[in-house]
Order: sequence, then structure tokens, then C-alpha cells
Amino acid sequence: MTSAVFSPFTLPCGAQLPNRLAKAAMEENMSDEGQVPGPNMLRLYQRWAEGGTGLLITGNVMVDGRAMTGPGGIVLEKNSALAPFEAWAKSAKKNNTQAWMQINHPGRQVYAAMGGDVLSPSTVPLDLGKHSHLFGKPRAMTHKDIEHLIQRFVDTALKAEQAGFDGIQIHGAHGYLISQFLSPLTNKRKDEFGGSIENRMRLLISIIEAVRAQVAPTFAVAVKLNSADFQRGGFDADDAKIVILAMNKLDVDLVELSGGSYESPAMQGTTADGRTLQREAYFLDFAKEIAQIATMPIMTTGGVRRLAVAEDVLANGIDVVGMGTALAMNPSLPNDWKKNNQLSAHDPVVRWKDKTLSSIATMAVIKRQLQRMGEGKQPKLNASPIFSLINDRIRLKKLTKRYQAYLAR
Ligand SMILES: Cc1cc2nc3c(=O)[nH]c(=O)nc-3n(C[C@H](O)[C@H](O)[C@H](O)COP(=O)(O)O)c2cc1C
Repeated sequence: MTSAVFSPFTLPCGAQLPNRLAKAAMEENMSDEGQVPGPNMLRLYQRWAEGGTGLLITGNVMVDGRAMTGPGGIVLEKNSALAPFEAWAKSAKKNNTQAWMQINHPGRQVYAAMGGDVLSPSTVPLDLGKHSHLFGKPRAMTHKDIEHLIQRFVDTALKAEQAGFDGIQIHGAHGYLISQFLSPLTNKRKDEFGGSIENRMRLLISIIEAVRAQVAPTFAVAVKLNSADFQRGGFDADDAKIVILAMNKLDVDLVELSGGSYESPAMQGTTADGRTLQREAYFLDFAKEIAQIATMPIMTTGGVRRLAVAEDVLANGIDVVGMGTALAMNPSLPNDWKKNNQLSAHDPVVRWKDKTLSSIATMAVIKRQLQRMGEGKQPKLNASPIFSLINDRIRLKKLTKRYQAYLAR
């Protein structure tokens, strides 16, 4: 019997996903000069497309080159040249795969060493204990800043559509700018963008409305949202439900549920408020509840390494299963599952005493696999966390220099 995971799925915009498996956004940090995708990115996405995943969501693409989640990030603005993005979309769609671009603004989650604009709803800096100094101090956004930001999301979405992507995903999770507006811990505003959840979600809702009004009705508009931030006093599951109810009234094609931020890396299975998540499919309990009130399709991402777990996610009323780590360790996992349904993806999680350092090392191991695939190599399952971390630091230093030259231009 074929698994439900391999059944197609039609989205509200009419597009069909060939199966229920999605590669969740993973920032590649592999841009070429000019912060654009190059040959390595094309190789990487073709590899995923050929591996049998139905939907590929790109790593976050910045709507403003002056504010980046990392120095090797991709930027797509109103006046960006389209050719590198057309090539990227083409490589991701090689196998009838749906390709969406995730679009994002980091807000206050910007490394101080990089420079650029550090914006946030209010002036609350990131608190990572002894690592806090690594991040820039945010400036509170004015109304003009907010207006410009909404327009930037629209511009980037339109360019993604022109380049041949099938949809976009607005990044409203993981403590980036939209998520900073959603959380009462980072949003201390007294105007119509702060206070009640109705006000805190105004930015996200305005972006969805503005994008949807400009792109074709057949172009997918999706959102990544935290089921909760997992911080005391932060955006919680009740807030998330109110946001979902508001999005029910808009033409949203898919909501991906995740959780956490740099301060509380729940997306890696660890929370700051001590709440325990499921060992596999971290956010399934939340997603299940949300799916009951959501009229749009729901996807959840986090911790899925085995086919049985993906099947369990679907059996609980979720429509699409997202995977990041598992597809970095094995880009052909969906095709391999068709041959061996017991196959489990390698889990590279690093567990050192310093939780922040462990989290960065885990990311470094995973990012190294993306770089290897970009070079046409196989992932290296036994990659050393220390070596990967050092390699990552050296790479980031070089990329930071290059980014600063870009910024100066
Ligand atoms: C290297 C790396 C980069 C990531 N970059 C992004 C990103 O750009 N946007 C995003 O929404 N999530 C990003 N994530 C989070 C993943 O999309 C996903 O939510 C998380 O890894 C949990 O899923 P998993 O257990 O299947 O990896 C990233 C994760 C990793 C490991």
C-alpha cells in the first residue's frame, strides 16, 4: 500500500503539490557576489527536486539588502536583476516540484558585526546572556518604516512571481521582524501596531493583504507562524489561534506551524520556558488544535526524521509535513522512503553544555551539508561539530567582509 504521504494535494489557489512532503526553509548562506543565487544554489535545489520532495521552500530571502539574517543571504528587491532568480526557480522545479520563495526581514536578529539597519517594533534588544553583544541594538520603526516594509514584501513577492516561483511564504516565525511585532515581549508600541493581539498582528495581516492583492490568484501565498514563542509572557498558543482566525478571512494557501526564536530555539526542540515538546514532530499537538479552527491547509515542521512520524502528522489532520534537517542529511529521503519505509534520516543534533553554542554548532553541521551538495558532493553524516563550527565562523567572516562592501555600494 502506498503511504498517504505520497498522495497529491490541491491548494486553494489551484496549484497541486505532487505529495505531502515539503522541504522547509533553510537559509543556505551560499549567495554569490551581489547577494544573488549562483551555480551552487542551483545544484542544491535541483538535488532536492530530484529527491522526490513535493514542495521546496527556499531559505529566507531578504526583502531589504540593508537588513540580513546572515552575510551570505540572498536579497531580492524591486530593482534586482531577475536572471539569477529565474535560474533558481527553474532548478527547483525540475521534477514538477512546486517552488516557493520564503521572504523575510530579520528585524533585531541581525549580527552586530555585519552592520546595516536593525529595526524592530520597539527598542528591546536580543537577550542571549553572554552572547547578547553579538547582535545589533534595534531602533523602533516609524509609521513610514512600516509602510515601506509592507511595500518591500509586495515588491519581493512580485519579483519572485516574475522569476517563475509558484508562490511565496511570508516568514512570520522564529523571532524575526513580523514575529517581533506579534510578541508582547518585543512589541511595546502604544499605536495601532502594539498592545492587543489584534494590533500586534496588524503588520502580518497588512502584508498578506497587500501581497495577495498584487500577485495572480493562482500564485500561492503562504505564511510561517509560531504555534508559540515558548517564552514566558511571549506570543502564545491562544494568540496564534486569533491570528489563524484572522487569516481564515484572507486567501492564504498554507500556514506552516513552527515555534521559537533565537532566544528560545523551539524549532530545534528546546524551549526557554521549560515546556516539553514532542520528541518527534515537535509542534504536532499545537498544529492539531489549530487545524480544527483553520480553513486553510496546515503544515507543521520540526523533528520529522521517519516516515511513520510523517504519516502520524497527516493522520492527525495536518495536510503537509515539513522537513529541514532530514532533507539536509538526505536530499533523496522521499524517494528512499518509497523503497524502504523504515529508513530514518540521520540526526546531527549537538548537545554541549552551552545551549546557544550547541544550537549554532548544530546549524553549522547542517549548513555544511548544504554547501557540500552545492559543490556536487554527498552529505557527510559524521561531520565533526567543532570542525563545522570553525569552518562556519571562517566562512561567515569572509562573507561579512563581502557583505559590507555590498552594503557600502
Ligand atoms: C541551517 C538551517 C537554516 C534554517 N533557515 C531557516 C529559514 O531561512 N527560514 C525558516 O523559516 N526556518 C529556517 N530554519 C528552520 C527550519 O525551517 C525548521 O523549522 C527547523 O529546522 C525544524 O525542522 P527540522 O527538525 O525538520 O529541521 C532553518 C533550519 C536550519 C537547520
